[in-house]
Amino acid sequence: MKSTPEAIRRNFDQQVERFSNIETGQTTAIDSPLCMELVSQAAKLTNPNATNIMDLGCGGGNYAVKVATLLSHVDCTLVDISSNMVEAAKTRLEQIVSGKVTAIQGDYREVELGKNCFDIITAGTTLHHLRGEEEWELVFGKIYRALKPSGSFWINDIVLSETDEINEMMLGGWLSVLKKQITEDEVRMYRERYESEDTPRTLSFQLDLMKKIGFSKTIVLHKHFNFAAFGGIKY
Ligand SMILES: C[S@@+](CC[C@H](N)C(=O)[O-])C[C@H]1O[C@@H](n2cnc3c(N)ncnc32)[C@H](O)[C@@H]1O
Repeated sequence: MKSTPEAIRRNFDQQVERFSNIETGQTTAIDSPLCMELVSQAAKLTNPNATNIMDLGCGGGNYAVKVATLLSHVDCTLVDISSNMVEAAKTRLEQIVSGKVTAIQGDYREVELGKNCFDIITAGTTLHHLRGEEEWELVFGKIYRALKPSGSFWINDIVLSETDEINEMMLGGWLSVLKKQITEDEVRMYRERYESEDTPRTLSFQLDLMKKIGFSKTIVLHKHFNFAAFGGIKY
């Protein structure tokens, strides 16, 4: 039985600092600074005149900060189930954007995301908290509808592989990277947290789902072991 949204909220309420460092990004994810850079540059190249951005599962706001600093004037919407996270992100974004910053504390499965209103939507290491296929379809569909016609959606996340054997190999790769940075006990804790909290999907499942929902193009920016950065353009 995986963690409930309430348990996830409580857990992340305590971790604002870990998700607020723009230089390191999320230290327990692979190539986090590179993925933030690729996502924000790809978003800017795709939507150079963006005026409205949204960061889902924003944590301390790293993805919103990276994207917003590349654009001249944006309104920014932040969504997170943890009130501590979304408030910290709002404070950070208010210091760097000249437009309006809207913070929404809530579950992106339930929050109204709007229609045709965002140029860029990012989701950094968060969608792996979605559970059954119907939840993935629901949230990808909401994101698609919330984007303006030429808008783009960018994800950096942990991904599964297609077979158990390759999955184990990729997981082993991730743990070997972690072991160089943190203690064995911490690695064990992060692995246990992954087992209890996360339900990632394969990269191909997510790219296929984007296409099925209507995205005209899907783009892979980066993949290293069990982490990938990728996106889709509405049309
Ligand atoms: C691993 S952190 C990543 C934070 C940030 N995107 C980053 O990359 O630094 C995942 C975030 O997603 C949020 N989250 C998890 N499930 C969520 C849900 N169903 N709705 C909204 N936020 C959620 C958590 O509270 C947490 O802040």
